[in-house]
Amino acid sequence: TVIVIDFGGQYNQLVARRVRECNVYCEIYSYKTDIEKIKAMNPKGIILTGGPNSCYEPDSPTYTKELFELGIPVLGLCYGAQLMMHILGGKVEAAPVREYGKTEVLVDKKDSKIFADVSEKTICWMSHFDYISKVAPGFEISAHTADCPVAAAENAKKSLYAIQYHPEVLHTVEGTKMLSNFVLGVCGCAGDWKMDAFVENTVKEIREKVGDGRVLLALSGGVDSSVAAGLLSKAIGKQLTCVFVDHGLLRKDEGDEVESVFGPEGQFDLNFIRVNAQQRYYDKLAGVTEPEAKRKIIGEEFIRIFEEEAKKIGAVDFLAQGTIYPDVVESGLGGESAVIKSHHNVGGLPDYVDFKEIIEPLRDLFKDEVRKAGLELGIPEKLVFRQPFPGPGLGIRIIGEVTAEKVRIVQDADAIYREEIANAGLDQEINQYFAALTNMRSVGVMGDERTYDYAVALRAVKTIDFMTAESAELPYEVLNKVMNRIINEVKGVNRVFYDLTSKPPGTIEFE
Ligand code: XMP
Repeated sequence: TVIVIDFGGQYNQLVARRVRECNVYCEIYSYKTDIEKIKAMNPKGIILTGGPNSCYEPDSPTYTKELFELGIPVLGLCYGAQLMMHILGGKVEAAPVREYGKTEVLVDKKDSKIFADVSEKTICWMSHFDYISKVAPGFEISAHTADCPVAAAENAKKSLYAIQYHPEVLHTVEGTKMLSNFVLGVCGCAGDWKMDAFVENTVKEIREKVGDGRVLLALSGGVDSSVAAGLLSKAIGKQLTCVFVDHGLLRKDEGDEVESVFGPEGQFDLNFIRVNAQQRYYDKLAGVTEPEAKRKIIGEEFIRIFEEEAKKIGAVDFLAQGTIYPDVVESGLGGESAVIKSHHNVGGLPDYVDFKEIIEPLRDLFKDEVRKAGLELGIPEKLVFRQPFPGPGLGIRIIGEVTAEKVRIVQDADAIYREEIANAGLDQEINQYFAALTNMRSVGVMGDERTYDYAVALRAVKTIDFMTAESAELPYEVLNKVMNRIINEVKGVNRVFYDLTSKPPGTIEFE
């Protein structure tokens, strides 16, 4: 295992992901974690991340000097590099020239283990206002840039390495190579953390934990709960019951697709309960127009239905959840960046189901690893690579009151849009795209007839974290084709708009 110690930088989860891409398992811990805990984990290497502070300020995050005396290789990145120098007797101060963005780094120490097979001139991503003006005793400078005398430094004898730039960011062209040089070359990790092994080990662990107990899982058809279902089914078969609530606000045919994979005709061994609650939701939502009120009704109705089903099943031993590693980290339970937001998946244990313990088989995985595990388990690619879909579903893509008729319109329009995006080969590069139904009707003419129909809005965004987003520049021909098809094929629509708004000021969804 490699331990990533988090000092609050924005790329910290990325550091861990890159390490895992080298097939080395790693976990993120806050800089507040006691050194005894770190020692007890007996890591093969430690990485100190970036962070927003200046390490020489009195209240800035720091770590005990003992960390560098354990004989365990340490790699400091950005703030982590500066902190390492600061603690070990070097000097860090405000840089005369801030560096930001792609920067050419010149390697000085050709035999450095970090730079093995790395070009002598290599583009790296810089983002710093402090710099290392003097390295600590025992260190030598291994790389520099035009503005920064210490882009990298090392004390090879003690296996301590400092890097001013961000190798975890893709803009650092050879960054993954450098990180793999550290974890495989310096730390001597075997690089055998693979998804097939994860699946096998997790199946074994689930069997041991569950014994002959019963497990209940709310299956939404999303990536996480689907992969959790696949894993649990492989481990315990019919001891698992999945409840899938079709709230009538899913995308076109999605309920049937979920059923075809996990239902009795599918390839998984489990008890599958589909609750067709479409009408029940439409009744509850009748006359409701306020977005948050709709969200609340949809959420509460789900709990009520799940509760009713759970009552029918009776007491279970475990309630399974599809919590994944970013949920854990973002809830402040793992790293440091955390504390900013709390996540609905973690912590708030549902008190409406009679169970003894929570089981979270994906708790250690990043999203891309969850997908790999899904493929490993034989879950269809269509499901594994699904774009995110909000819990309240089409309920928040129909502006104003939700009715069965409006659901039909938006489902059909959305299906056409998705089909054409896929035909154009754009489905992998756009992070989220969908049709929404505006609450606006306008006059048009079709054949020789006057129409007075709805306007559909198309949305497509590119984003990394869904906190900010930009509208995607879709080719005009694609938009045109989608518009034509929607107007010709979907009854009740006579106009199509494309939403250009970025987030902020817009949000990705319309409500
Ligand atoms: P916004 O609209 O806030 O969306 O820019 C950001 C991301 O979150 C999803 N989203 C939701 N997901 N329940 C969910 O489970 C919700 O109420 C909800 N609202 C937005 C949205 O699809 C996008 O991926």
